[in-house]
Amino acid sequence: MMDTGHDQITAAPPGYHAEEVTSVHHWTDRLFSFTCTRDPALRFTSGQFAMIGLLVGGKPLVRAYSMVSPAWEEQLEFLSIKVPDGPLTSRLQHIRVGEKVLIGRKPVGTLITDNLLPGRNLWMLATGTGLAPFMSLVRDPEVYAKFDRVILAHTVREARELAYREYITHELPEHELLGEDVRAKLVYLPAVTREPFPVTGRITTRLESGAAEREAGVEPLDPARDRVMICGSEAMNADCRALLDARGFVEGTNSAPGSFVVEKAFVTK
Ligand code: A2P
Repeated sequence: MMDTGHDQITAAPPGYHAEEVTSVHHWTDRLFSFTCTRDPALRFTSGQFAMIGLLVGGKPLVRAYSMVSPAWEEQLEFLSIKVPDGPLTSRLQHIRVGEKVLIGRKPVGTLITDNLLPGRNLWMLATGTGLAPFMSLVRDPEVYAKFDRVILAHTVREARELAYREYITHELPEHELLGEDVRAKLVYLPAVTREPFPVTGRITTRLESGAAEREAGVEPLDPARDRVMICGSEAMNADCRALLDARGFVEGTNSAPGSFVVEKAFVTK
């Protein structure tokens, strides 16, 4: 058998469920996703993350991963970058169907609609794998019950990194349970920064110039009406936060809802 650098999981260590991988998809040489079984006892809210990983040298090697799958889905799905010398991702990228992964029993996180005050438009600003929690949220009926318009702005370096683009544009609008809400309320804004594409430029630049609002067909960002969720790199989060602070947005937390919430896209190494 090929040595993938991790132990076979026969029993889950305390605090984890051991789940079986049911599919693996490699988007690019830097990006992959996989699905696995879900213990019926695992509860989470769409947008949250859990500690997930492998058993290495008899110990859990785990990182925080946002669930890509919505809370109602029977299986779990995760999106990951592949870092050649990353302790977890260098191993996890070789995971195969039938192998087991560890899933932490206590999902948490701030990117949940309960942390936002009521509003009309919900902006989701994602870069790279920061898309993950929003894939969960755009498939949660509660999001559409709370907002008139849901704007998913995903910005990446190269077009092929626009994971789930086909799914969002073609499958989701036809989804049996969500299709009607998606067609009426979801606006998808894919953009690329390092090669030609119909929409180019960082989300921060496009919000500053008003281009992003024009792309979405809505009024300029306003804390009276708009709510924002942010998930990207440390630098992207900081720049988005500064932009929103300057416009009078207030950050929401698990104890006090606000007009925006932030979480960093995990697993950068
Ligand atoms: P750029 O190509 O101009 O750096 P990364 O893979 O480095 O996380 O980048 C993912 C996307 O996020 C890229 O399109 C990148 O644009 C963009 N990005 C990186 N840093 C920032 C930032 N501080 N603010 C907004 N967007 C950013």
